[in-house]
Amino acid sequence: MNERIEKAYAKLNLSLDILGLLPGGYHELCSVMQSVSLCDRLTIRSDKGSGSISVSTDKAYLPGGEKNLAGRAARLFLRHAGITDADIDIHIEKSIPVGAGLGGGSSDAAAVLRGLNAMFGAPFPLSVLEQLGAQIGSDVPYCVQGGTVLAGGRGEIMQQLRPMPHCGVLLCKPAFSASTAELFALADKRTISGRPDTNGLLSAIEKGDLTGICQRVFNVFEEVMVRGRDEVLRIKELMYDCGALGASMSGTGPTVFGLFGDIEGAERAETELKKHWADCAACVPMEKICIN
Ligand code: C5P
Repeated sequence: MNERIEKAYAKLNLSLDILGLLPGGYHELCSVMQSVSLCDRLTIRSDKGSGSISVSTDKAYLPGGEKNLAGRAARLFLRHAGITDADIDIHIEKSIPVGAGLGGGSSDAAAVLRGLNAMFGAPFPLSVLEQLGAQIGSDVPYCVQGGTVLAGGRGEIMQQLRPMPHCGVLLCKPAFSASTAELFALADKRTISGRPDTNGLLSAIEKGDLTGICQRVFNVFEEVMVRGRDEVLRIKELMYDCGALGASMSGTGPTVFGLFGDIEGAERAETELKKHWADCAACVPMEKICIN
């Protein structure tokens, strides 16, 4: 039996813009993505067997087996590597909120691709793991390596950027969850007026200018969303009152992130926000994971 622990980090969209429609109904995005230290913990076991895949989590409402993105990732990996004589068992301890805009399911799937690749002697380079990831979900290619990335296309065209400067991050999720597909459908029906200053953000990242980065965090879905919008705006306001240098929603929401000068600042704000929202987590940015 072979066993490996993999951490699956949450992702933020420092900026998120929709540029248009792609063939197949997907949307062309332009997003600066950032991984943070809040993570799920996966225990991946492989044993001699006949290709069975089991997935369990510590959250009863999440699907197991190949209905879970982690199980789909394992199946795809085994098939692509031509492995037929192994059983895979995955257990996920969830810390990343579900349906939150933090890429938790995508990150779990990416962690399975990374973990199995390491356990089976690294048959695939990063690019192949990313291509496999793209078959599972739009955020999975990014989550394979994470770090600070400019993502385009459906999310699979990626450019690594200079790592984000040290800072504190506070995540706060309202008590409802968002459906990604629904939010994209809503976006089709609306004219979006506010857009992120992506070039300004890229230049601030290149300079290591935390203030410049914080001034430019922006997500078009804040304008698109209907249900819960007021709550998201209230969280942002409280983040700023508590000293955030910047705050925005991540992905299709509803989690709001605030950026602070240091982790202590994020933790102080956490104490205040927790009086109103239970689901808060202070964390820090993560650099990319090195593969091969
Ligand atoms: O790729 P993923 O399965 O995570 O996407 C979930 C849904 O989000 C898709 O079914 C699609 O409706 C929408 N989506 C999109 N354009 C993207 C990413 C996601 O329209 N670039």
